[in-house]
Amino acid sequence: MNFKTLLKSNYKSTAYFCNLKTNRRLLHSFQISRNVPTLFSKNSSVRLHSNKSTNNPYTFSYVSKENESALVNSVIKTTIHFSITDKVGALDEVLSAIKALHVSLCRIESRPSRTKGSYDFFIDFETTEHSKVVDTLSVMSKLVKDIKIVSSGEKDTDDDLHSVPWFPRKIQDLDSFAEKVLSYGADLDADHPGFTDAVYRKRRADITEKAKVYKHGNPLPHVEYTPAEIKTWGIVFNELVELFKTHACREHQYVFPLLVQNCGYREDNIPQLEDVSRFLKDCTGWTIRPVMGLLSSRDFLNGLAFRVFHSTQYIRHHSRPLYTPEPDVCHELLGHVPLYADPDFADFSHEIGIASLGATDEDIEKLATIYWFTVEFGLCKEGNNIKAFGAGLLSSFGELEYALSDKPIKKPFDPAVTALQKFPITEYQPIYFVAQSFKEMKEQVIDYASELKRPFTVRYNGLTQSIEVLDTKEKLMRYANG
Ligand SMILES: [Fe+2]
Repeated sequence: MNFKTLLKSNYKSTAYFCNLKTNRRLLHSFQISRNVPTLFSKNSSVRLHSNKSTNNPYTFSYVSKENESALVNSVIKTTIHFSITDKVGALDEVLSAIKALHVSLCRIESRPSRTKGSYDFFIDFETTEHSKVVDTLSVMSKLVKDIKIVSSGEKDTDDDLHSVPWFPRKIQDLDSFAEKVLSYGADLDADHPGFTDAVYRKRRADITEKAKVYKHGNPLPHVEYTPAEIKTWGIVFNELVELFKTHACREHQYVFPLLVQNCGYREDNIPQLEDVSRFLKDCTGWTIRPVMGLLSSRDFLNGLAFRVFHSTQYIRHHSRPLYTPEPDVCHELLGHVPLYADPDFADFSHEIGIASLGATDEDIEKLATIYWFTVEFGLCKEGNNIKAFGAGLLSSFGELEYALSDKPIKKPFDPAVTALQKFPITEYQPIYFVAQSFKEMKEQVIDYASELKRPFTVRYNGLTQSIEVLDTKEKLMRYANG
């Protein structure tokens, strides 16, 4: 058995326990004597042992009663996105204006802009006065272009929660990621096979534009693929389908024929995301969102918490059908999609997403590394054999065969070890991790995530597709009582 305290309700009352394996029921409670809380301080955790001598350590974190009442003096946190034309002193001008308004600037991030000669910025600022939010937006609108409010609302004033990065609370919040890409699918590096092909670049720009304007609840964009694109897909499809028979894990092999039957997986047809997303929804509750390009690790992992997979929709350049330097629709549909129809794999990915909400930058890096060595490059045991389940392998002819040969090092999957493993991104992996099963992998990640530093517990509500932060006694009790 594995228990973890979700929350202590107040200084001198009861600690509530929940079984992390099921995440459902309140199993134990006990009274803490008045002097015990003096052992605690904020951010501390204490290990207790069951008085039934089961040797099960109970770890619990401490949330003071005062912190609940502190919400009265709430701070308004606002995140905005805007563009600045590149000229000397342009950013200084904006920052000086914010400073003069006496609001607290707490984050600034820049991104390459789609508009030539401009830079995009995301900033977070805080104030206790609503009028200052309005004033700031008014001043900013005179200095910058395309200003948009990404989010604005009260934030917790708890010291522990103060430093928690913003995270989406409802599935609609994922709309704010649409333009926060690290690289645009329409922008190609000089060594990309399609770099000098103006027609190909225009095509990618048209497809990424559909992802840019997509909003949760809309039908997923329909792409009318050209005969040339379908030919490229067909070459990849035929090559991989042969390899799947001997190299893919049994779950992938089980689902693949269902995708052929239900979603138009054929040599002469590139499946539409809408059809695939509907199929996944029926199987495991997962859905797909189109994405313009590469998201940050935090944003991508946060999407998994809502059982949402961000997928590109454009295809690799026809001159090199067996090579792509970045994810494309072949990688997403042939590598990733089949396993999101498997309940255990789907739950495993979901747990990584849940752990990423409000995680520290350090923990995001660890979770992204676990994702890399599992969802992208994972191997698993099947009796005496080892098979591939990582999408990076299942969509790469050369590396798929190499990974299952005796050339690379193979280690048992252990989140604590895997999370710290360095890896190359432009060459074959020298080390792979081998999972016993998806079910066990999920349990391992749940245990691992329970040790990460986060001053609250979250739960995904599948009915409302929203995240509940269990930071009050009432929420905890409602959750614990199912
Ligand atoms: Fe991928």
